[in-house]
Parts: sequence; structure tokens; C-alpha cells
Amino acid sequence: MKITVNHQPLDVSPHRPLIESLRAAGYDVPSMCYAADRRHQPSCMVCMVKDVHTGQMIPSCSTLPREGMEIETDTEEVLGMRRQALELLLSDHRADCEAPCTIVCPRGIDVARVLLHYDRGELSAAAAVLGDTSCDGCKAPCERACRRRTVDEAVSIRSLLDEVRRDGLEVKGERLEVRAKAGAANNSNPSPLTPNLSPHPSPLTPNPKSDLFCSRLGRFTDAEKERMKQLFTQPSRCLHCACEGSGKCILRSLATNAGIRTPKYGVQSSLPVKERIEVTERLVYEPAKCIRCGLCVYNTDDGFTFERRGFDMRVVIPEESKSHVSDEVARLCPTGALFSVKS
Ligand code: SF4
Ligand code: SF4
Ligand code: SF4
Ligand code: FES
Repeated sequence: MKITVNHQPLDVSPHRPLIESLRAAGYDVPSMCYAADRRHQPSCMVCMVKDVHTGQMIPSCSTLPREGMEIETDTEEVLGMRRQALELLLSDHRADCEAPCTIVCPRGIDVARVLLHYDRGELSAAAAVLGDTSCDGCKAPCERACRRRTVDEAVSIRSLLDEVRRDGLEVKGERLEVRAKAGAANNSNPSPLTPNLSPHPSPLTPNPKSDLFCSRLGRFTDAEKERMKQLFTQPSRCLHCACEGSGKCILRSLATNAGIRTPKYGVQSSLPVKERIEVTERLVYEPAKCIRCGLCVYNTDDGFTFERRGFDMRVVIPEESKSHVSDEVARLCPTGALFSVKS
């Protein structure tokens, strides 16, 4: 069957979703709620293309081609619609892609990752992430930016880093071992530029970190502040702001490539912020990052499910269904809502 794409003729199969034929021919069409050969329902609308004959925008993931169809994939109008779809998804998504402390560190220390290892009791790994970088003479903008400060007091980042330097390296000879481990420790949370193993094609082009889209947790309500105090009582008091699923996040990739740097609309999500559900030993689900694409629902039997309807709809995992969820499903999730904590 013949169709026209951006004024060029294209041979397509009438049985293959439009998005597949377009991608196979080299057209760049993003998707969030679609994964090839998986069950899905169109909901995200980031795969929109224009049907020139009807003048309508159509989701290419769930449209079969028709003889003589004329499609546009790259006009301002199409790109604008996709961007708007992304903005709407982001308005319902409450999380920090990167921790504020890490973003502002003038010496490039991944403060959040050091503190994550610290709270897990992995002092050597914490020291490996810290490396030889010193905080001497620095005015600690990390402590001014610290999100815990909006709850009560900032995390004492400098003294914790000093402790890591002192105790993580104090065993004679360990410095060498620590250095050797540095690469491995830094890779434990792959950067968004790491090759992506998910079934979604990642359109992220290499950019400096500062050029990436960065979602924000925003202000806490008084009730949320109380919740944070009760949840984060470990010695560091760190809220562990950085998204652990950011390395595989298609939402962030697409927002970055669409030129979005911060969410345009206020974040409306009413889901409990920083709620962390251990689905299995290896899988974690954080509902406030879920865009309700449904891929985990449609592709697990008796696993994830939708609860409620309309704006209040959310994806839940009943306690008795957790054992039905396989590791594989984390690879389908196009955000950092569902991620694997161990490789
Ligand atoms: S709470 Fe922890 S991760 Fe968040 S900004 Fe403060 S030190 Fe960084
Ligand atoms: S899920 Fe994606 S967009 Fe959301 S905080 Fe994580 S990396 Fe950022
Ligand atoms: S948790 Fe499920 S519904 Fe939510 S974004 Fe991930 S795959 Fe989609
Ligand atoms: S509606 Fe097509 S990928 Fe989501």
C-alpha cells in the first residue's frame, strides 16, 4: 500500500501501525504509552502526526494506514502538539530528576549519590563517588539549595562529606581500591546518556547535564513536611531527591529534545510525593512519577491495575499481586516511576 509522508511516497504494510512503518523508514516519531508488540492503549498523544486529508491529528501508534493517506510528521503544528502533550504529562509528574545539591555543586560532586551510599552503609562506595574532590574554600551552596531546608533544616552536607572522606579512606591502602571502584560506583545509576535497553527507542541526543530537562518536586505543603520528617529519619536526614530511574526515562529524553527545561504548568499531582513501594526485591514503584500510560497494567497478568477514574485515576499494585510482577515490566515503563534497584 502507498501513502505519502512529508510529501514523499512510502510503501507500507496495511497491517502495521503507522508508527512502525514511519520509524522503519527513518522518521522520528516519539512514543510514551506504546511499545512494539506489547499491549497498549493510546493515552499520551506524543506520537501525533497530521492526516492531511482530514486535517486531524492522529495517534500514529494506534492508527493503521489507508491507501493514499497523506501524513505530516515534522511541521511546526505537529511538533507543537507533541510538545503540548508532553507539557500536560509533566504537569502531573512530581519528582526531582536531579537533586538540588548536586545541581549547584561548583566542583561537580554528585552529592546525592554520595549520601545515598552513606545511608545504605556503603561508605567505601560513597568515598569512591566523592573521589579526591575537596570542599575546602567552598561556601557550600549545596546546603543553601538543600530541599530538606524547606522541611526543617538543611542536611549538614559538608560535615557528612568530611566523614565519608575520613572514614571511607582511613584504612591504609584502601584509597587505591576506592579509586578502582569509582567507575563501577558511578555507573550504578546510569546517566541519561547511557545506551538505553528499554523497548522504547531513546531519542536523547548527547547534551551536557545542565542542558537536560529537570523536573522539580516543588514546595511541600505543611502536611507533606510532616510526612517528610517521619519518613526520612536516617542519620543523614537526606530526602534522597534524585530520581533513581532517571537513567532510563523517556519522558526526560523527550522533554529535553523538545527544548523543555522546566515544567511549564504548575505540578498538579495529588499523589503522595516520595512514596516508595517495594514491588519485589528488585523493583521499586514511585507513584508520583507515574504518567498513567498503562503499559505496566496491560502487560502484567494480575499485577498492576488502575484505581478510580478520570483525573483521580492512579496505577496501584495490590499487595497480593506483587509476586506477579516480573523484572521485565520495569523496562516497559517510560518514566522513572518503575525501576530496578539491582542489575
Ligand atoms: S535532601 Fe539530600 S538529596 Fe535533597 S538536596 Fe538535600 S542533601 Fe541533596
Ligand atoms: S521519571 Fe523522568 S522526568 Fe521524572 S523525575 Fe525521573 S528522570 Fe525526571
Ligand atoms: S508505572 Fe506503569 S502506568 Fe506508570 S508510567 Fe510506568 S508503565 Fe506507565
Ligand atoms: S498515544 Fe501513541 S504513543 Fe502514546
